[in-house]
Amino acid sequence: MATVKRKGELGKSEDNRKPVYPSREVTTVLWQGKIERLVWGGLGLGRAEDGRAILLSAPLALFPGEEVNARIHWKARHGEGIVTSWVTRDRRRSPAACKVAATCGGCDLWEAGASIGALKRLMVEDLFSRQLPDAPLWRWCPAPEEARRHRIQLHWDGHALGFHRRRSHTVVPVTECPASVLSAAIPRLQEAILGRLLPTKPQRWELATGTPPGSVFATLDSGRTWCLEPDGWHPWEGPISYHHGEFSLRQRPGGFYQVSPAWAAEAFGQVLRDWDVRGGTLYDLYGGVGFFSALLKDRFRHRCLVEFDELAVTWARINLQALKLSAECISADAAVWVPEQLGEAADLVLLDPPRAGLPPELCERLQSARCQTMVLVGCDGASFCRDVKRLSPAWKLEALAALDLFPLTHHVECVGLLQRISAS
Ligand SMILES: C[S@@+](CC[C@H](N)C(=O)[O-])C[C@H]1O[C@@H](n2cnc3c(N)ncnc32)[C@H](O)[C@@H]1O
Repeated sequence: MATVKRKGELGKSEDNRKPVYPSREVTTVLWQGKIERLVWGGLGLGRAEDGRAILLSAPLALFPGEEVNARIHWKARHGEGIVTSWVTRDRRRSPAACKVAATCGGCDLWEAGASIGALKRLMVEDLFSRQLPDAPLWRWCPAPEEARRHRIQLHWDGHALGFHRRRSHTVVPVTECPASVLSAAIPRLQEAILGRLLPTKPQRWELATGTPPGSVFATLDSGRTWCLEPDGWHPWEGPISYHHGEFSLRQRPGGFYQVSPAWAAEAFGQVLRDWDVRGGTLYDLYGGVGFFSALLKDRFRHRCLVEFDELAVTWARINLQALKLSAECISADAAVWVPEQLGEAADLVLLDPPRAGLPPELCERLQSARCQTMVLVGCDGASFCRDVKRLSPAWKLEALAALDLFPLTHHVECVGLLQRISAS
C-alpha cells in the first residue's frame, strides 16, 4: 500500500485509516573533526557544528585530541559512526602487536600501546562522573603487563579457524592470539580439525587453560572436551583446576571462570581486603563455582552460594567442601531466591551478575535486606551504575573501584561497597 509521508512525520495509509510509521532512514554522511574526550564503551566523543554529540568507534583505539575522518549516521538526537582515517595522530599511538588487530573483533585498544591503562581510566572517569556524581573517590587497579586471557572462543567455519570479524559473523583466520596465553594451541587445534582427528562441523570452540598454564583444553558448546598432550588431543572428562595460592577451585571445561584468573584473584583480593569485608554469612549470589566464597574464606563463618547453572553448583559444593568451609550451595535464579529481609545485620550480600546486571525486582527486594553490607560486582559499567542507582533508596555507595581485568579491550570490572541506610 502506498503511503504519504514527510520526513520525521507519521504517514497515513491511502485510505487514511491506519498510521504508517516512518521507515528508519539511515543517512550516512562524512564527518571530520576532533575527539573531544573518551566516553564509556571505548568511544570517542565528537561534536557537530550545531553542538550535537557524535559517538565514534575505531578499531585500534582513539586518543582525546586526535582529528579524524568518520562515516556517521544520525539518530534522533546524536550521531554514531566509525572512524575511517586519522588527520592527526597522537604521538603515544604505537603499532599493534597483533597481525589481525584491525579486523578481528576480539580487542579494541591495540594501538594504545603503553597508554592503554590511561585511556581506560579516562573512560571510567567519564562514566562514574556522569552516572554516579555523588560517588566516593574511586580506585583504579591497572592490569599488570603480563595479564593475558586464559580463555578464548574461536570459530571453525569449515575452512578456517579464527575470531569473528568486528561487527560480523564471518571468521578472521588466526594462527596466534597475542592477547591470550593460548597462541601455541591454535595451530594445533586447526591441524587436528583439518586432519579429521577432531569434529569438522562448523562450530564454536573454547580454548582454556588452568593450572599449570601448560594444560590446554578445547571444548565444544555440547561440553565435549579434549586435552592437548604433546602427541595431540585426547578426550577429557575431568575438570580444569585453578590454583590461587591459598585456595584451588575446579570447574567443568566450558563453564564460566575469570578470564585472567590469577590477576582477577589478586585484584579482587586486594580491594576486598582493603575494604575489610567480613561478617557472619556471605550471601554469594551469582556465585559460579565459588570464586568469591573461596577468596573470602577466612572472613566469614558461613557461606550461602546461589547460582543458576546446576553443574557449576555441583562444583561449588565440591570446591567449598575441599576447602573445609561451611557452606550451602543452591541451584536457583538469584532474583527468585532472594527473600524479603535477607540475612542478619552482620551478614554481607555479594552480587556478581552477568553483563545485563541485576533484574529490577531483585534491586527492589534488596531494599528490605537485614544485611548491613553489600558488594556489587559488574562487568558492564553502564549496568553497574544503573543498579547502584536502583539500590540507592536503601543502600549508600561507600567505596568504588574499577579493575582492569580485560586487557586490550575497553571492558573493566566495577566493584562497589554499599552500606545499608538505617531506617530513621
Ligand atoms: C559473572 S559470572 C560470576 C561467577 C562467579 N561469581 C565468579 O566470579 O566466578 C555470573 C554467574 O551468574 C550465573 N547466573 C546467570 N544468571 C543467573 C541467575 N538468574 N541466577 C543465578 N545465577 C545466575 C552464571 O551462570 C554465572 O556463573
